Amino acid sequence: GVDAHESGQRIAELHDRFDAIDGYSARARAAALLSGLGFAAERHDDPVASFSGGWRMRLNLARALMCRSDLLLLDEPTNHLDLDAVLWLEDWLGRYPGTLLLVTHDRDFLDAVVGEIVHLDNGTLRLYTGNYAQFERERAQALALQQAAYIKQQRQIAHLRSFIDRFRAKATKAKQAQSRIKTLERMESIAAAHVDSPFSFELRSTEIGARQLLKLDHADLGYDGVPVLADVNWPILAGARIGLLGHNGAGKSTLLRAIAGELRPMRGGRLTANGLRIGYFAQHQMEQLRLDESALWHFQRLEPGAREQELRNYLGGFDFRGDRVSAMVREFSGGEKARLTLALLARQRPNLLLLDEPTNHLDIEMREALTEALQDYTGALIVVAHDRHLLRATADELWLAADGNLSPFDGDLDDYRQWVLEERSAQVARAQKPRNVAAIDRKAQRREEAQERQRLASLRKPYEQELAQLEKELAELASEKQTLDDWLASPDAYVDETRQRLKETLTRQGDLTWRLARAEAAWLQLQTTLEQLDGH
Ligand SMILES: Nc1ncnc2c1ncn2[C@@H]1O[C@H](COP(=O)(O)OP(=O)(O)O)[C@@H](O)[C@H]1O
Ligand SMILES: [Mg+2]
Repeated sequence: GVDAHESGQRIAELHDRFDAIDGYSARARAAALLSGLGFAAERHDDPVASFSGGWRMRLNLARALMCRSDLLLLDEPTNHLDLDAVLWLEDWLGRYPGTLLLVTHDRDFLDAVVGEIVHLDNGTLRLYTGNYAQFERERAQALALQQAAYIKQQRQIAHLRSFIDRFRAKATKAKQAQSRIKTLERMESIAAAHVDSPFSFELRSTEIGARQLLKLDHADLGYDGVPVLADVNWPILAGARIGLLGHNGAGKSTLLRAIAGELRPMRGGRLTANGLRIGYFAQHQMEQLRLDESALWHFQRLEPGAREQELRNYLGGFDFRGDRVSAMVREFSGGEKARLTLALLARQRPNLLLLDEPTNHLDIEMREALTEALQDYTGALIVVAHDRHLLRATADELWLAADGNLSPFDGDLDDYRQWVLEERSAQVARAQKPRNVAAIDRKAQRREEAQERQRLASLRKPYEQELAQLEKELAELASEKQTLDDWLASPDAYVDETRQRLKETLTRQGDLTWRLARAEAAWLQLQTTLEQLDGH
């Protein structure tokens, strides 16, 4: 009766609403966001508790992006991302239709995403039109002007002071001196422009005679008998400046650990030159700091003979001053821990520097200071970073870890960006093809193929479930509509006694037709998605 009609109407409205908010594509959108942020497809259905802290940060970000919004507020979204995810996010935000307010220390990311900069300085907000590069130029000009005004004012002040000092004593000039004093007091002091960075340090290297510092010799690198990178045959020469690229999980960190000597190759060797000093920075190094000791203590332990003042001066270059030098590391922020770790590393004057995402906790000035120090550093350098400014400024060759192999990357970071975005869109199609991993034994290969099948199956599963659900709904709708159609085709429908029923049936028939069309469209879309997964 009327109730059924109303519910039908209501259901139709809800479907309409669901469609309007893109409900039918929600799963596919969520999957795309998660993949873009580096989540492997087979982990999309895993419980949140099974992810580490860094991955939960990514989940938070995915959630913020998933919500439909007019205003999106992102506070340091790239901190826990790798370069691939940053590039993907940049692309995504470029297409975000709403208003975006972003706090980030990644200047390339800023340049790509924003059109205006709000600068918070000395408790005021100032709006600059343009991207970060333009902001920096304008600000440098403003600072130069301010600095000129400041110097002029300082000259005036000095002049007034000397006048006051000279004539205060003389009774005849006392009155003039008094009025000068007032002028001086009224003068609104122009702040000196803070162009100075709080950091000043350099990365010095220890001389080494060898041309080849280290070589991975046909090394297979991996865990539990399964190589992540196979047959790595890589000499690292003095003065090399290498940026290491690759998807999340491609083996960049594994490679650095192997070079550092933390991970033994499963096969092949690691040869080192005499006098090699490796400086290795990775997030897990920060965890090796002693929480119940001070920054100073860490240095005194390394150099028991060093003068405290000398160590304090050194630490000052990393912006540890006064009390901060003797404060417990426990109280330190992530940024301070990262700085301390870098300070310790630099102190050891390495001639081979391995940096695995060194900028994660660093603010823009420290990044700049590190970038400059790395530019002047004369040792060999291998760096993994999502900060393209740092990569571009410090690396002059790029290597790519992909598909189980390490190879030189033929191109620059813009080419890499292109490569990442193309890879991403091809990823779904590629998912089912076995990866091309050289020199892996058949057993591992079979295991990998089984994993790929599983991965594909888990990728398909949610779509298949949705499809089954839709098919059931379609069948029900079709069958109900058939019944109504039959009745409407019969002469019974057009007699006076059934006038009310006729009206209801016609409305219901309209609803059903509409809902069938919706369901069919959704069904078609799901089919297309599944076909793409099959690689058609
Ligand atoms: N300690 C470990 N034990 C087992 N597998 C690991 C370990 N560390 C990393 N892996 C795996 O090795 C692969 C490469 O990881 P990683 O070198 O950290 O990649 P990247 O730094 O390029 O993101 C990933 O599949 C990762 O899950
Ligand atoms: Mg890594």
